Amino acid sequence: MNSRVNPMRVTTPPDSKRSMACLPARPGQLAGAEGIESELPSLDTATIRRDFPILQRQVHGKPLVYLDNAATSQKPRRVIQALVDYYEGMNANIHRGVHALAEEATDAYEAARQRIGRFIGATEPAEVLFTRNTTEAINLVAATWARENVRAGDDILITAMEHHSNIVPWQWVAERQGARLKYVEFGPGGEIKLDEVASLLTPRTKLVSMVHMSNVLGTINPVADVARLAHDAGALMLVDGAQSVPHLPVNVADLGCDFLAFSSHKMLGPTGVGVLWGRRDLLDQMPPFLGGGEMIDLVGRERSTYNALPWKYEAGTPNIADVIAFSTAVDYLSELGMDRVRAHELELVAYALEQLGSVPGITLYGPDALQRRGGVASFSIEGVHPHDLGQIVDYEGVAIRVGQHCCQPAMESLKVGGTARASFYVYNTPDEVDTLVRALLQAQEMFS
Ligand SMILES: Cc1ncc(COP(=O)(O)O)c(C=O)c1O
Repeated sequence: MNSRVNPMRVTTPPDSKRSMACLPARPGQLAGAEGIESELPSLDTATIRRDFPILQRQVHGKPLVYLDNAATSQKPRRVIQALVDYYEGMNANIHRGVHALAEEATDAYEAARQRIGRFIGATEPAEVLFTRNTTEAINLVAATWARENVRAGDDILITAMEHHSNIVPWQWVAERQGARLKYVEFGPGGEIKLDEVASLLTPRTKLVSMVHMSNVLGTINPVADVARLAHDAGALMLVDGAQSVPHLPVNVADLGCDFLAFSSHKMLGPTGVGVLWGRRDLLDQMPPFLGGGEMIDLVGRERSTYNALPWKYEAGTPNIADVIAFSTAVDYLSELGMDRVRAHELELVAYALEQLGSVPGITLYGPDALQRRGGVASFSIEGVHPHDLGQIVDYEGVAIRVGQHCCQPAMESLKVGGTARASFYVYNTPDEVDTLVRALLQAQEMFS
């Protein structure tokens, strides 16, 4: 198969019987794919792949097939070069220096904030706070906004498909402040129901914090609808965009959320940088997160006053080089076009689900309807432990993720100890799906 993915033409009828724990769609019967047609020019994966040096390497003597993008993505040469350029030509601390290097570095850092803000439709760069990752962004809201606004007897609503980073901080808020943590369960198709969300909202609900795209099920949750419900109930809405911002066009105004958290390393950028986008009025009112340099205005012996947004939330020397390189990654994605990124992954996941269906004993997890899932295929194979699967496909050069995916409550709901997961990005091809499926067939044969 050619490595260039054709424009989306998956137009087969839905298979309404397919569910989380039943047989996968048969070739030519892709469930819920109707209406997914795109005339967008397809991504030229052959050219894209040349931008990613790591894709040239071999693993166990085989070409690397990297299908662990939900864990972290690979980096294009341009992003790696941005780091080198920064350290070779500009390195200085920002905001305080008056010398040329400090001014250049400050300008590049703040320009990065503007570009990243534009990428998600922020109305002003001051709404874009740099953190270390999605985890820290969510913890920031829990440690600041929630500390001030959640009282004993209040509720926080999350779902059973959350990553641990969107569970543990709320458990702490609940314990510390006497609040209740409530869960929206997902059904056998890996989806939540809006009427269930509505039934769990009460006047005591202060926050709904929900993953936009699940890293386990691939489910794309209707977060804009949930935000409307939350606001009608008087609650705020935080969206965990760790998996959605890298793979879908995401605009905070369209989502109607109050906070959005995401990580650079999952979207072609370096590790060590995340973003918390927040509504200016909320960020203005919230107390600071960490105390120290940068975040202050005046420091007296007893008390201090704080800097303006966004620096009020960026104590200490930030991750300057990685923030700048992150904006290079965002430019790269913008040039590809997020609509085309989405269409490419939809085509790949449709093909993957179809091909995985040929593996005896396989169970696929996640929604029937392709429109409501991202480029993630989670599965298990009867009689083969996910870790064995992971190791056997690794011998063929294929990198997938196995285990609980930092989502133990979701594993509990699925009634499994773990799953195997292939997750796709802009450089993946149908050929790579074929390599994965061949490796899985070998594993299945070995254990049958
Ligand atoms: C849905 C989701 N939320 C949050 C996270 C945490 O991201 P990070 O480790 O970059 O903080 C992940 C990471 O896999 C994720 O998939």
